[in-house]
Amino acid sequence: MTTIARTRAELAARTDPLPGTVALVPTMGALHEGHRALIRHAREIAAHVVVSIFVNPLQFGAGEDLDRYPRTLDADLEVCAAERVDAVFAPAVGEMYPVSNEITVGAGRMGAIAEGASRPGHFDGMLTVVMKLFQIVTPDVAVFGEKDAQQLALIRRMVSDLNLRVEVIGFPTVREPDGLALSSRNRYLSAAERGTALALSRALRAGAGRAGAGSAAVLAAARTVLDEAMKAEPPLDPDYLVLVDPATFEEVAGEYAGPAVLAVAGRVGATRLIDNQPLVLTVPQEV
Ligand code: PAF
Repeated sequence: MTTIARTRAELAARTDPLPGTVALVPTMGALHEGHRALIRHAREIAAHVVVSIFVNPLQFGAGEDLDRYPRTLDADLEVCAAERVDAVFAPAVGEMYPVSNEITVGAGRMGAIAEGASRPGHFDGMLTVVMKLFQIVTPDVAVFGEKDAQQLALIRRMVSDLNLRVEVIGFPTVREPDGLALSSRNRYLSAAERGTALALSRALRAGAGRAGAGSAAVLAAARTVLDEAMKAEPPLDPDYLVLVDPATFEEVAGEYAGPAVLAVAGRVGATRLIDNQPLVLTVPQEV
C-alpha cells in the first residue's frame, strides 16, 4: 500500500528505517508516462521507492508558470499506487520552507549557461530543493530523467562536489510515437502548437544524423529545422540551441570528438519547452 506523507514527521514515521535500499524519484507532480518509467526503473534497482511531489517555488523565476503549473495530486497518487510506490512525500510549501531560506545551494558557472542563462536562479532553486529532499528522504539512489540534461549534470556535480552519499541515476527521455518528449507542460499545448513543437525533436534528430560530420554540421542541420519552424503557424520562438559536453555543459566546437549533448529550448505560444539528444561526435578523417 502506498503511504502518503504530507510532513517530514509523517514520512519518517513510515520510512525510518526501511530495510534494504531506498530509491527516491523527485517530481513536481502532473505525473505522466515519463515519470512512470522513472518509478518502474527505481523499483527494479531498489527494495523501496519514495516519490516526492512538490512544485518548488524556488526554481521558478518572476513571470514563469509557477501559478499555472499543473497540480493534479489525486491523479498522481493513483499513478503512484498503481506503480506500487511505497511512500509519496507531498509537502506543502510551508513544510519545505518554514522560514525564508538564508542558506541555499549555488549552481555556479554550470548553472548560468544554456538553460541557466534563460532562467536565472532556476538551478540554484532546483539544487536547493533536491538537496533538502536528499536530506529528508536519505535515499541510497535517486532517479532523474535525462530530458532535463543540465539539471541531471548539475545534480551529479552537486553530489560529487559536496560528497553526498547518494547514487544518481539518469533514465532516458520517454517520447510520444511522433518524437515529442513527454513533459508535464505538454498539456498546455493546443493541437496546432503541438504540431509546431515537434520541430524541437526533429531538429535534434537532424543534428544527431550529422554526428559523423563534426560539431558545425550538427548545429547547422538542427538550426535549419528550427528556422523552418519559425515560419510555421503558430511559429516556434527558439530560445537556444547548444552542443555541449554532457558533464560540464561547456559548449563544444570545431574538431571536438566524443560524447556531447545537443540541447534545445523554445517557446510555442505561451509554453516553453526543452529537449535534448545525447550523441557521439566524430570528425571525418582526411584521406
Ligand atoms: O525535474 C523536476 O521535476 C524538478 O526540477 C525536481 C528535480 C523535482 C526538483 O524540483
